[in-house]
Amino acid sequence: MRLRRKPEAKQKLMEHPLVFTPTEDNKGQMQGQWRSVFPHETHPLHVELGTGKGQFLAKASTLRPDINWIGVERIEEPLLQAVRKGEATENTNLRYVWADVENLTDIFATGEIDRIYLHFSDPWPKKRHAKRRLTYRRFLNLYEQVLAPAGDLILKTDSVSLFDFSLEEFQERGWEVIEISRDLHHSPYAAINITTEYEDKFSSRGMPIHYVRVTPPKERAVADEN
Ligand SMILES: C[S@@+](CC[C@H](N)C(=O)[O-])C[C@H]1O[C@@H](n2cnc3c(N)ncnc32)[C@H](O)[C@@H]1O
Repeated sequence: MRLRRKPEAKQKLMEHPLVFTPTEDNKGQMQGQWRSVFPHETHPLHVELGTGKGQFLAKASTLRPDINWIGVERIEEPLLQAVRKGEATENTNLRYVWADVENLTDIFATGEIDRIYLHFSDPWPKKRHAKRRLTYRRFLNLYEQVLAPAGDLILKTDSVSLFDFSLEEFQERGWEVIEISRDLHHSPYAAINITTEYEDKFSSRGMPIHYVRVTPPKERAVADEN
């Protein structure tokens, strides 16, 4: 994702009411508190990791007002664009976190999230970078901690290699595949699908979208240093 660096983006994000920016001092302050920032505290909490420019969240928060939505993004320029899109919707069920997924367990409490979305995560095709993929087992360990017992995770990608790698990692850690398609847009799951920026780009080139919904193992994970 190439974007011109805007030095003011950082300041705007730090001051924005829809954005939480964890620092060394405040990083744990939202753990277990997320529901209380939304008007409807009982609604499920869905979190998109690697939100990018935020098309999915702006659409999803409009189409599904019965869900509280949070986007996590580590790069300030796309995040600022996402926040602007979200702001324009005037939806009250939408927030953003400026952070690296690495720090997920500082930001969310055990079992706080009902669904995680990984949309077109960077595929890191080189084998030596496998540990950076957001479905590498160390990340799955983090998701196991923050997902609710009945929670799940949805992965969409154009990358066959990331998809195959992810299925292996899910299996290795005892995650269960509930729904799967190697051509989402021509599958029964297409009817309720909300597209992302990258998804529109790849599918307009005729590339099939790979989709899987998985649930974590019943036994809750403990922090894993690997
Ligand atoms: C290829 S883009 C996809 C954006 C969007 N999800 C979509 O489908 O259009 C991947 C995004 O994930 C973000 N990202 C990658 N690794 C991340 C991490 N460890 N923590 C937070 N964001 C991350 C990148 O900065 C980038 O904006």
